[in-house]
Amino acid sequence: MSVFFQTGKFCIFRKSFNNPFCNLLLLRNYSDPSKKFIKFNDVVEQRRAEARRSLVVQVNSESSFSELYGYCSKYAPIKDVYHYRNTEKEHFMLIEFETEENVKEVLQVCSSHQKDLDVMPIQSPFLWFKAAANNKETYKVPSSKSLATKDGITVIDDDILFEELLNCETMSNQMQLLYERTKLNDLGIRLRFMVARQFEVIFKSLYANAVVHPFGSSVNGFGKMGCDLDLVLTNDLTEEMSGAGRRLVFQEKRVEGGARAGGGGASARQLELLGALLELRVPGAAAVRRVLAARVPILKCAHVLAAASVDLCCTNTSGVYMSELLWMFGSLDPRVRPLTFAVRRWATAVGLTNPHPGRWITNFPLTLMVLFFLQQKRKTGFILPSVRFLVSKAGKQDIRIAEENINCTFLRDLNKLPQETYGQCEEDLETLLLQFFEFYAQFDFQEKAISINEGVPVRKPNALPLYIVNPLEQALNVSRNVSYEECERLKLEVRNAAWQLEAELEGKKEEDWGLLGLIERKGSRGLKKLLRVGNSHRLVSVKDLFKDDDFTSDTNTKSHQTKSDTEIEKSVKEMKQSMDNVEKKEQRMKFKNSQIASEVFRIRRNKIV
Ligand code: CTP
Ligand code: MG
Repeated sequence: MSVFFQTGKFCIFRKSFNNPFCNLLLLRNYSDPSKKFIKFNDVVEQRRAEARRSLVVQVNSESSFSELYGYCSKYAPIKDVYHYRNTEKEHFMLIEFETEENVKEVLQVCSSHQKDLDVMPIQSPFLWFKAAANNKETYKVPSSKSLATKDGITVIDDDILFEELLNCETMSNQMQLLYERTKLNDLGIRLRFMVARQFEVIFKSLYANAVVHPFGSSVNGFGKMGCDLDLVLTNDLTEEMSGAGRRLVFQEKRVEGGARAGGGGASARQLELLGALLELRVPGAAAVRRVLAARVPILKCAHVLAAASVDLCCTNTSGVYMSELLWMFGSLDPRVRPLTFAVRRWATAVGLTNPHPGRWITNFPLTLMVLFFLQQKRKTGFILPSVRFLVSKAGKQDIRIAEENINCTFLRDLNKLPQETYGQCEEDLETLLLQFFEFYAQFDFQEKAISINEGVPVRKPNALPLYIVNPLEQALNVSRNVSYEECERLKLEVRNAAWQLEAELEGKKEEDWGLLGLIERKGSRGLKKLLRVGNSHRLVSVKDLFKDDDFTSDTNTKSHQTKSDTEIEKSVKEMKQSMDNVEKKEQRMKFKNSQIASEVFRIRRNKIV
């Protein structure tokens, strides 16, 4: 069995997540301005506490707010209500109550669905709001109270985003805007912690000390709206339970299969059980897939109530420390996250990254490449320190040992870091992006590895095309999957991007100036350019363009003629083709959704308020 389910080994890890710091977090902001950095654990604990104070309720529409608010506030005081819709356009409200006790009180007055034999009720923080038996009751909502968000997790439409980017003054502004408009927002984070809470509540019935921690881009500060949710289940002894005075010990169940990772190992066997639980007992979990033969076995599923794709594992606690490390680097300088977002978006646009696993680079190693670039010495100093430096500043309280004795010790409190060791250059985002491309256009990928531990290129230990050292397990290469061809493409694309930006510095602002030229998908560039010719007032509804009768009638295009008719016709045909593809894809997705829909228990709409 993996160390995960053995007792005691992770008490240090556990301790770091058990401290109730949320008040401290708020107090410190006001009472001690010299401490400008908040610890990752404080932020995580605040989010976990928020989730314990919250419930998610499915409703009929956003106008159910007053009735839901009135009904719930009979039982407990409400702090805020957030509205969102999932991918199937069903409506939900996340209610944050004043205290955790409030949630317990509300849960006590919940009912459950008893009608169908195939529906077994289960307690979890995901509920639905039944229509009142009689309509006599009226609820008063204080005039000061309204929804904190409406449609709170909608991803910004590309056309709107590109229009906003077009109207920016500088490329640095564009990069900042891209970050602000696409990063995972507050409600997105709340919902991810709600899913972790739900899994934890349900798994607790099987594992005495179950704690489910989000990690990866949901918490490391580099997540965009709609990013996947990486979760790890830990089952470590609490500090209280590990006291030497406790002589009565629960009998345990030893799992055959030993501690080895991958298929047949104990953690894979536990995941088989959890997979069945997700399928049978966890409301919202759908389309469960088991990837158990991997080095880190995982369960993949969709959470249809929280509109998130979930990856669940139970051995990868170092992933949480990795997220902490990334989060800290992102906090050290305000340029780190916008720069990383621009690079990630560019990589998607040129097809270097792809949501499916394969022989290409993924967002995580790409982020390490950005951090490594920012660790390079400049005339005025460093923007980011190396991990080695953070390790050298660590104290006793920073010691963390994860599974398989992985040492995850590094300085946690960034307030202790000497100011001259980070944020020491004046370059704006635009300059940094150009320098990023130039740096990697000249990087010796053949001989050198990228190591954020050292902050300087190190010798490659083997001949793999791309070598990016795993900061917490330095013997591992996080980009070992990348093929020779993909690495060549990476080199080519960074050179192209550098040329493109350099050429632009000399030229005048075109309709795809600055970041736009880098982040628009190559295939849609012609289309976007056409739509933008002569500026935004010329933008036409995409739908109008695709009406079939528009193609035969030339009168519609006459008012837009700055290009030749044949050019426009060609572009419109390309557009139609790409829309057809999108439509076909959507049809396929719809089919997939309805499959998912039939797999999960769907609440009858007419019963929901
Ligand atoms: N991870 C790792 N080693 C890898 C890949 C991933 O340690 N080779 C850890 C990292 O902490 C990473 C997390 O697992 O952040 C989740 O991986 P993944 O979902 O691939 O990346 P994210 O950072 O979450 O980015 P994305 O938004 O693409 O999901
Ligand atoms: Mg992820």
